[in-house]
Amino acid sequence: MPEYYWPEEGKRSLIGKRHSRLDGPAKVSGKARYAYDTNRPGMLFGKGLRCPHAHARITKLDTSAAKKMPGVKAVRVVQDVGSEIHFALDEIVFLAAVTEEIATDAIRAIKVEYEVLPHFVTEEQRDKAPEAKPAEEEVTGEPNAAMEAADVKVEGYYGIVPIAHCCLEAHGQVCEWEDEQNMTTWCSTQNVSGMPAQFAEKLNIPASNVRAVTQYMGGGFGSKFSADRWGIECAELAREAGAPVKLMLERDAEMTVAGDRPSAYARIQLGAKRDGTLTAWVSESWGSGGVGGRGAPPLPYIFQVPNRRHQHTAVRTNRAGARAWRAPRHPQACHLTMGVLEDLAAELRMDPLDLFLKNVSIMGPRAKTFEEELKKAAELMEWKKKWHPRGDSGSGRVKRGLGLAMHTWGGRAHRSNCELLVYPDGSVEAKLGSQDLGTGTRTVIAIVLAETFGVPLAAVKVNIGDSRYPASGASGGSTTVGGVSSSTRRAALNALEQLFAKVAPDLGVSPDQLEAVEGRIQVKGNSGKNLSWKQATAKIGVNPISVTGANPGVGKLNDSGVGGVQMADVSVDVETGLVKINKMVAVQDCGLIIDLKTAESQVYGALIMGIAYALSEEKIVDPVTGRILNANMEFYKLPGVGDIGELVVHMMKGRRYDERGVIGLGEPPVISPGAAIGNAVANAIGVRVPYLPATPDRVLSALEKGGMA
Ligand code: MOS
Repeated sequence: MPEYYWPEEGKRSLIGKRHSRLDGPAKVSGKARYAYDTNRPGMLFGKGLRCPHAHARITKLDTSAAKKMPGVKAVRVVQDVGSEIHFALDEIVFLAAVTEEIATDAIRAIKVEYEVLPHFVTEEQRDKAPEAKPAEEEVTGEPNAAMEAADVKVEGYYGIVPIAHCCLEAHGQVCEWEDEQNMTTWCSTQNVSGMPAQFAEKLNIPASNVRAVTQYMGGGFGSKFSADRWGIECAELAREAGAPVKLMLERDAEMTVAGDRPSAYARIQLGAKRDGTLTAWVSESWGSGGVGGRGAPPLPYIFQVPNRRHQHTAVRTNRAGARAWRAPRHPQACHLTMGVLEDLAAELRMDPLDLFLKNVSIMGPRAKTFEEELKKAAELMEWKKKWHPRGDSGSGRVKRGLGLAMHTWGGRAHRSNCELLVYPDGSVEAKLGSQDLGTGTRTVIAIVLAETFGVPLAAVKVNIGDSRYPASGASGGSTTVGGVSSSTRRAALNALEQLFAKVAPDLGVSPDQLEAVEGRIQVKGNSGKNLSWKQATAKIGVNPISVTGANPGVGKLNDSGVGGVQMADVSVDVETGLVKINKMVAVQDCGLIIDLKTAESQVYGALIMGIAYALSEEKIVDPVTGRILNANMEFYKLPGVGDIGELVVHMMKGRRYDERGVIGLGEPPVISPGAAIGNAVANAIGVRVPYLPATPDRVLSALEKGGMA
């Protein structure tokens, strides 16, 4: 099998440049169709009856009045009398009606009674939990002896509360049956190729009879891999009613049951030599992923302290199950680890940047890159000029401070298949069963195609978002750009091989002496001896060249393992407790960058998402009712444009990075912002605010208690 490569440095005309998303105009003009925008002739509207209690048993259920209402076309009980409900807003009944209003009225007409059972939603108090999975423990070296022998020790308490995914487009879909055996779903998913099997299994039809379409989707962040019960029930309602059904989650359900990032709390002891060399780590962490109870953060994060012990307890709560949230478990681990490192630096009266640099040798395989990134970030932040020891000594009520954090992620390319057609008129069309989560997948595929063929971006057509196209992996784990760029590159090189064979006789050379550049097929290095792209493709014959490219998950086109360093400059008003971002610096590597603009855009977006969970974003759970109090877009606080300060993004570039091939970038830059901001707050006000988000009440409480939890 031939080896596939990216074009070498100096021979890339599109790869690595800044390109705007090709589907930007469709999105801003409203032409782009999301699952939510899908409307079918005769379509019904689906809704769910949801349990208001966090823990209850259904004692009575009567749907007869709802069934009799004019306009109600199908009613399905999914949890009946006797069922135990484990979290608030779990579904009891789904129904479909001719209008949303009738569906809502019909839900109200259902008679249901519950025996309310005790619930538990405050996992920080794990000693009160009815169910906590026994601690997993990992030990390396001699943590007790090393802690004993350490010159300096700190002990801290850190926590990060549960948050939602808060996708702008809620979970949901439209389902339509063509006949008794064939169904199409227009769904909001990160997993187009995986949908048919998931639906088919539950609907008891062959997977080949299910088609999933996701042309555009409004965010997933890890919460949209599954067909979900509401997806299956939407299909069942459509089958029963004999009409298409649209069922999208209401915002309160979306934010309560469709995504939960697990919380994490930890007591950590860290020991070091006087010069800052880390020697001992002992931590005990706990947290909740809701009814599933999972989500152990990888501790210590990045810094492989030679002697270490870590214990984690998963606490079960009466909240909907955890879903992967952009870099699952890493933002938690990062906040917990970087927090105690910053506290150790303060104890040593050392600049944390120096403490980090002192310990580069225990940063694992990416240490050299981390060192470069730490220095680059420091330069962009003017760290050495601006940094001061813990506690802004100024007399005003506004204190300023700096904080830093670093992160790592895998991002190995997923398996992906690309079908490619090159037509005799020179037009080009690719088909991939992938999806664009809003990250720029379409654009990246087009860049790779156009680059490989030496034609303009506008000359290629990219089809994605349909399970009828060749399968690609789910968009999870930052694997998509690596996967689709590799399969597309392979397909395009395979097509060129055929095209070169067709035109080589005309140019009087062998096919391996040809190259495709700037709209021509030419003899390598001899631009005078050529055919234009159009002249060349005219020789294809009647049928298009039809090839496939498969990315097997290994090869020279992609790699895994990235790093990043982020720094925050904040101001804290010690009278109001309000934290303001002055500036964030993000330095990030991701191997070969295909589109610099969409890559940077991932980092900007991650910084904003990070500022959200650092300062304001929180699922506020009422311990009395077990309900989320702010499951809406008004009190679930996300930053506005006035809250984000100056954002500086720097992508690491150059031969050392390019040679690694493409590596995923979507998740890593969202890991560090919370930790960097948390550390900057401590540096500003002189005490640790143990929790994220560092809301005004928590800042004031930390000031009052002198930083004790
Ligand atoms: Mo990601 S949290 O694997 O979509």
